[in-house]
Amino acid sequence: MGDEPTRRDVTNHVLFEIATEVANRVGGIYSVLKSKAQVTTAEYGAAYTLLGPLNRASAAVEVEELEPKDPAIVNTIKSMNDRGIKTLYGRWLIDGAPRVLLFDIGTAWHYLDEWKGDLWSVAGIPSPPGDTETNDAIVLGYLVAWFLGEYTFHEKNRAVVAQFHEWLAGVALPLCKKRRIDVTTIFTTHATILGRYLCAGSVDFYNNLQWFDVDSEAGKRGIYHRYCIERAAAHAADVFTTVSHITAYESEHLLKRKPDGVLPNGLNVKKFSATHEFQNLHVHSKDKIQDFVRGHFYGHNDFDPEKTLFFFTAGRYEYRNKGVDMFLESLARLNHRMKSANSDMTVVAFIIMPAQTTSLAVEALKGQAVVKSLHDTINTITKNVGHKLFERSLKWHEGQELPEEKDLISSADKVMLRRRLFAMKRHHLPPVITHNMVNDAEDPILNQIRRCQLFNHPSDRVKIIFHPEFLNSNNPVLPMDYDDFVRGTHMGVFASYYEPWGYTPAECTVMGVPSITTNLSGFGCYMEELIENASDYGIYIVDRRTKGVDDSVNQLSDYMFEFTKKSKRQRINQRNRTERLSDLLDWKRMGMEYVKARQLALRRAYPDSFDGDTEPDFFGGTDVKISRPFSEPGSPRDRSGMMTPGDFASLQEGREGLSTEDYIAWKLPEEEDVEEYPFPLTL
Ligand code: UDP
Ligand code: G6P
Ligand code: GLC
Repeated sequence: MGDEPTRRDVTNHVLFEIATEVANRVGGIYSVLKSKAQVTTAEYGAAYTLLGPLNRASAAVEVEELEPKDPAIVNTIKSMNDRGIKTLYGRWLIDGAPRVLLFDIGTAWHYLDEWKGDLWSVAGIPSPPGDTETNDAIVLGYLVAWFLGEYTFHEKNRAVVAQFHEWLAGVALPLCKKRRIDVTTIFTTHATILGRYLCAGSVDFYNNLQWFDVDSEAGKRGIYHRYCIERAAAHAADVFTTVSHITAYESEHLLKRKPDGVLPNGLNVKKFSATHEFQNLHVHSKDKIQDFVRGHFYGHNDFDPEKTLFFFTAGRYEYRNKGVDMFLESLARLNHRMKSANSDMTVVAFIIMPAQTTSLAVEALKGQAVVKSLHDTINTITKNVGHKLFERSLKWHEGQELPEEKDLISSADKVMLRRRLFAMKRHHLPPVITHNMVNDAEDPILNQIRRCQLFNHPSDRVKIIFHPEFLNSNNPVLPMDYDDFVRGTHMGVFASYYEPWGYTPAECTVMGVPSITTNLSGFGCYMEELIENASDYGIYIVDRRTKGVDDSVNQLSDYMFEFTKKSKRQRINQRNRTERLSDLLDWKRMGMEYVKARQLALRRAYPDSFDGDTEPDFFGGTDVKISRPFSEPGSPRDRSGMMTPGDFASLQEGREGLSTEDYIAWKLPEEEDVEEYPFPLTL
């Protein structure tokens, strides 16, 4: 905060958001920025710019270069360019088309040692050599602070809010404070470094949060310097926020600052003009997954596609944090239960988690190829047979025999068919993985699959496919984008142990796909608070807080087993109910908490511009806003009206003059009568 706090216009302020995932997909932060862009540009227009490091490969696809118009941006970029810093200014090609300014950190690399020294002297943050991720964060932080310093020099009228996401973008925060740059800042953490590390090991994290000796734990794991950056960012920010209550509690204990509020993540919900359209998309995508499955299980396609369910888990490869250990163990138990119950259903469980691979496995490619050849051959034979049948029928006279089927297929066609059938003979089981791994023998997922003996045996009711790469429609084996894939599945399973929010189950919900998550994930807790009978709505929540591991595993396999017993009609109805929750997760509603956080930041930096001198009690009103009708039957239907996503949170201020209608008026749509669907139900 600077020398002339009252001069800046707080109403027409400028907003910068800073993150490493701007136009560069890594994980959930990319999803936050991308899905939120539409509501933020609607609110700010050209006064909103995202700042981040330039990743050329990704920016080439996602960003269209533009000439900046804001004179302060033009001048600042020019001055940085003149001093050798390369930048890319443009439009991010996503809904809302926000402006982005990306810094080529390679062009500032020669400053690294100087900046590391400075970071130590101004903020007491050490930076040992050889940690590329931290070095990148330092260079980015200094470039962003440089940018903001010059920008506020050129732009003297409007207040500037800078919101930083995650420690990797947080180095600029202590710098802004030390240099007294006239901006107001928000730090939003999407996890804590120490939390991620501690949970990935075998620590009873949640019962010991208050007791960890944070410096020593960070030191033991070689992440003390990163921890220092994160802690400095949290303390230097005017407003500190996180994405869920569970992470707020964790941040309070591990970063030693209680967040001012919780900013839950939303999604950009796209409504189809016909409500049943998403059901049609499900069938369409399911067919594509089925094509893949046919190829993968060639020679072993002994299960009925109509009685096959697709389950999946997906995310960054964090074996324990993302609950893959629990998922696989539960699948093994599910397999056993389905076999014992003589179930005629089959579950194909996908694990989509990028790991180090060398290539696609030959067997996976071969599977798709042999089935494609079979398909092509059968098309040719069908054509030949059709042609012959037509010719013979033309010549037919009354009194003659009808054309015999066996004469229609030629010997050449028969040979061709036999060749294809023999190509599908297989002397081993269908593989559990689609790629060749760099470290097959030590891969935790593969080892767990081996331990549980889920080897895709014909007698197994649960089949496994580990796809160690994010999905992409250009992939020759499973050519689908992630969203299309999710739509085609029946259930997403995210048994997370450490998950500050967890976009994956939220994305399932808006696509009308039921999901299982846990009460250790931000999303799980959020939905559990909001909806009383969540499982009816396709939101299953495994208790990993109060139950022992074995009981949680059983609960997860129970949920999955019960799901396999649903009829097609029940699945269709449940998908409809799940999809009706989408509005609940829309940024139009969730975005309200971001508005409040920015208002709080402005108020803290420029108190004279606001009425009243005391801040509301930001972290107090947790349970007061909604009087939940406990006596009513459990249904989210009665949870409508005046509540905002942060009700379980904190931030109390609204933006003056801003209509909050969009954000808060959420009501669950009335249930449709399933008998009156305007589309045929194939049951
Ligand atoms: N995701 C993706 N492609 C895939 C699998 C996952 O783009 O093949 C995305 C998914 O859409 C989600 C993100 O990865 O938005 C994971 O975010 P989440 O919040 O679940 O976890 P994080 O990785 O941030 O811990
Ligand atoms: C959608 C379609 C139906 C189809 C069903 C399959 O609801 O509109 O025509 O029968 O999906 O559901 P399932 O759960 O078996 O994939
Ligand atoms: C982090 C968390 C994830 C969250 C995402 C977006 O990467 O691991 O749970 O959904 O950020 O906030």
